[in-house]
Amino acid sequence: MSLFICPVCKKNLKKQNNCYKCEKNHSFDISKDGYVNLLLSNSKNSTLPGDNKLMVNSRKEFLDKGYYSILSRSINETVYKHIDKENYNAILDTGCGEGYYTCALNQYLEGKNLNFNVFGIDISKFALSKAGRRNKDIEFAVASIFDIPAREESCNVVLNIFAPFKEEEYQRIIKKDGLLILVIPGENHLWELKSAIYETPYKNQHKDYEINGFSFIDKVIAQSNITLTDHNDMENLFKMTPYYYKTSKTDQEKLNNLEKLETKIEFEILVYKKR
Ligand SMILES: C[S@@+](CC[C@H](N)C(=O)[O-])C[C@H]1O[C@@H](n2cnc3c(N)ncnc32)[C@H](O)[C@@H]1O
Ligand SMILES: [Zn+2]
Repeated sequence: MSLFICPVCKKNLKKQNNCYKCEKNHSFDISKDGYVNLLLSNSKNSTLPGDNKLMVNSRKEFLDKGYYSILSRSINETVYKHIDKENYNAILDTGCGEGYYTCALNQYLEGKNLNFNVFGIDISKFALSKAGRRNKDIEFAVASIFDIPAREESCNVVLNIFAPFKEEEYQRIIKKDGLLILVIPGENHLWELKSAIYETPYKNQHKDYEINGFSFIDKVIAQSNITLTDHNDMENLFKMTPYYYKTSKTDQEKLNNLEKLETKIEFEILVYKKR
């Protein structure tokens, strides 16, 4: 049985050869790239929601060079540290993008002799066509975090890595004692990149860590320094940040004058247990 439910009638979906079907015979084809579209056209806010092709391509190119591998390793180890090792685990990566962290986690857990399945959702079909091609064993669906196609209390582990957050949906889909793992940028993340561009850079601010219905049980900081000498990598990194689209052309051009960029990367992995 898949974790996914039918977006029309909310019944369970069964994966058959090239499609998913519910008992009412609503049917959703699996694309040639290996993902299913569970986003109904009337629930989209724009024709092509989520990250566009350019954003997806720059992120994939940058991540595949391994600059953030320390984060991927820390996520894998944190999930393994807290996961229920005795029972089956349905693991869902929400806002999984092009699946860099999702696929690395799946591969890592495969080496650990656990009983689990990994699923991913994202609202961008460009992202999922990359994710689906990375790994055919993971089930990927186009869907929104604001209306996750999973039953009440059906997930054991849910990840949200730099993606939008909707508290009620996470409360709904995670089982009692299940885990919610949030990844957010740390205070000093990309400090030198910001300093190279802005006269008065700001540190990332954090509000409080409370989430209703969950206990905050662990916080892991993953940090390192990376050195970029290729302008294409610098630009890809900058495009992955929320500031890229708010920065003037003149400020953006400051990056082109750098011979190399050495910058801190810092991430917080926050672990919550459903009460
Ligand atoms: C900053 S990216 C992070 C992607 C991936 N988790 C990573 O770290 O590589 C945010 C992702 O959230 C997706 N997204 C935006 N709004 C969404 C929504 N309402 N539901 C699901 N995904 C959404 C975007 O398409 C994008 O892939
Ligand atoms: Zn149905």
